[in-house]
Amino acid sequence: MKKRVISGIQPSGAIHLGNYLGAIKQHIEMQNSGNYDCFFFIADLHALTTVRDAKRLAEMTRDVALTYLALGLDPEKVTFFKQSDIPEHSELAWILSTLTPMGLLERAHAWKDAVEKGAKEKTVGLFTYPILMAADILIYKPDLVPVGKDQKQHIEITRDIATHFNTHFGNTLNQPQELTPEDVAIVPGTDGQKMSKSYGNTIDIFAPEATLKKQVMGIVTDSTPVEAPKDTSKCNVFQLYKLIATSSEITALKAQYEKGGFGYGEAKKILLAKLLEVFTPARKKYIELKENLSYVERVLQTGAERARTEASKTLDEVRKKIGTRP
Ligand code: TRP
Repeated sequence: MKKRVISGIQPSGAIHLGNYLGAIKQHIEMQNSGNYDCFFFIADLHALTTVRDAKRLAEMTRDVALTYLALGLDPEKVTFFKQSDIPEHSELAWILSTLTPMGLLERAHAWKDAVEKGAKEKTVGLFTYPILMAADILIYKPDLVPVGKDQKQHIEITRDIATHFNTHFGNTLNQPQELTPEDVAIVPGTDGQKMSKSYGNTIDIFAPEATLKKQVMGIVTDSTPVEAPKDTSKCNVFQLYKLIATSSEITALKAQYEKGGFGYGEAKKILLAKLLEVFTPARKKYIELKENLSYVERVLQTGAERARTEASKTLDEVRKKIGTRP
C-alpha cells in the first residue's frame, strides 16, 4: 500500500524560489517517486484570513495551479484540487471546533505572533485557522503531511484534535506525521533574510526576464573590492547559486571567489544565467498554460471530484459517529 500524503499551499502571491526549493520541489519528487498517493490542494479558504479581494484571490489561486503544473505536477498521478471545491472540509472543521479546547489554539505560534505583532484585526478565522487545517488533513486519513518547519505545530495540533474526536466518539481519525525537509537549506532572500513575500526580498521564478534580472542584480553584497578574494559563505549570491547549481559548477564559482579579481556583478550574472537555464522549461510551460486556462480549470475539477469522493467517505463516518446522520 502506498502511503497517503496531503499538503496544502496557500495562494499568497507569485511563487518564488523559496517556495520552490522549500516545498514544491519535494512535492513533485514525491509524486515522481511512485511511492505515495498524493493529495495536493490550494488552500484558498485559508487565504481568506488575509485576502479580501475577490479578483486577487481568484488570480492567485489560478497562479498556484499554473505554477505547480508548469513545475511538473502531473494531474494523472496526484489528486490536485482547490480547497473551496470540497465543502466537506468546512463541515468537518465545524464539528472539530466543538471538541477543540480554546487553550490549544491560544498556544499556537502563528496566533501568538499575530497577537504580539498587533495584527490589524484579530478575527475568529485567524484564531481557528488550525482547525480548518486539521479538517483538511484528517478528512483524507493520510499517513504523512509534508510541510515547512513553521507548520510543524499545526500538525501536532491536528493530532491532538484527532485524539479528542476519537476519545469522545470512538476510533475514527488517524494520526498523521509531519514530514519536514531537514536537508532544505533556508533560502536567503535578496537582502540575506529568509526569502519571504512579506519581506519583499524574493526571486520570482516566473516573472518576466527583466524583473528577474532586476531582482538578481539587486541582491545585497558587501563592499569587498573587486580585486580582493571573497568569502563565499558570506555572500548571498553564492548561497543562492549553491542551491540550484551542480557540484562542479559550485566548485568552479568558489574558486573564482577565492582567487580575487572577480566582482559581485559577475557572480550575479552567472546566477541569473543559471536561474534561466534551470527554469526556462517551466517558464515556457507556464506561458503555454496561461493561454489554455480551460485546461487548468478542468484539471482542478477532475481533482475535486476525486478528492470529494474520499472526503465524503470520512465525513459520512463522522456524521454517523456524532449522530447527525442515522
Ligand atoms: N497552513 C499551511 C501553510 O501556510 C497551508 C495549509 C492549509 C496546509 N491546510 C493544510 C498544509 C493542510 C498542509 C496540510 O503553509
